[in-house]
Amino acid sequence: MTRPRILVARAIAPATLDRLARHFDLTPNADDAVWSREEFAARLQDQDGVLTTGSERIDGALLAACPRLRICANMAVGFNNFDTDAMSAHGVQGTNTPGVLTETTADFGFALLMATARRVTESEQFLRSGAWQRWRHDQFCGTDIHGSTLGIVGMGRIGQGIARRGAHGFGMRVVYHNRSRLDAATEAECKAAWLPLDELLATADHVVLVVPYSAASHHLIDAAALAKMKPTATLVNIARGGIVEDAALAEALRERRIAAAGLDVFEGEPTVHPGLLAVPNVVLTPHIASATHVTRQAMADLAADNLIAFFEGKGPLTPVNRPLAAPEKIAAQRTADR
Ligand code: DGY
Repeated sequence: MTRPRILVARAIAPATLDRLARHFDLTPNADDAVWSREEFAARLQDQDGVLTTGSERIDGALLAACPRLRICANMAVGFNNFDTDAMSAHGVQGTNTPGVLTETTADFGFALLMATARRVTESEQFLRSGAWQRWRHDQFCGTDIHGSTLGIVGMGRIGQGIARRGAHGFGMRVVYHNRSRLDAATEAECKAAWLPLDELLATADHVVLVVPYSAASHHLIDAAALAKMKPTATLVNIARGGIVEDAALAEALRERRIAAAGLDVFEGEPTVHPGLLAVPNVVLTPHIASATHVTRQAMADLAADNLIAFFEGKGPLTPVNRPLAAPEKIAAQRTADR
């Protein structure tokens, strides 16, 4: 019996590759090579499925060029690299990895918030440069976390994890903005109160962005939004590049219109806006919020589980779209068309 052909778009944990190889005719990207879009499409053409990492764009043009494709399993909770409408129209299933990275990512959101508000990396660079001569009463004074107001934009699983850390661990007052309000029990557990976005921006001492990227959240934090924040405020983005207008943020940081920012994601990453690299009051990390050994393994495992369940006919575990026609039907149609 021929086995489904699966392309793994990037290097992933060897244990997961071994497991996938027991089920599929597997093509890994062992060297973690960077493929152009054309090269990716060429490699994908004769594949039944692909394991992506969030960096590979799956859209209508690619799907039209890869008629055999039936499933794209993203090793990420965010799936803004998928055009889910186009995937549904082409009968291609998409999946993501929710749940397994919630607490790890919430930990990192807090780490970035602490590092930013307390100027950890800026002061470390000062020390490493040999500039530290003596203690000073005002040296690297930052902003308190405990007892301050934490504003969370996007109150899904990760937002709730950050809220719990802030409210229960640091005695913060937590306010949040989300399209829909949480139920009363979850609000009580997170000790969080809903606010309109403008009010949240004007009230919070620390604003953390955890909202998914979409057309609606593109440049949600632009110059006008930044102008609403307190001059003493901290902004943290662990969601996606493009939610913050990086040029406007660099300008606001340079002019000290807000105190500081902590960024794990960037517009056009891995390129970082030069204005952000030029200012000291920003902590910059390379999209590592979910990066612990255990969690990255769990993400790879869940992406693999989705592929295995799908091809065993059990249905995907964590789907992100509903293909318009049954994949089997579309696959059969494609075979007939060839
Ligand atoms: C996610 O899961 O969406 C992360 O950004 C990838 O590490």
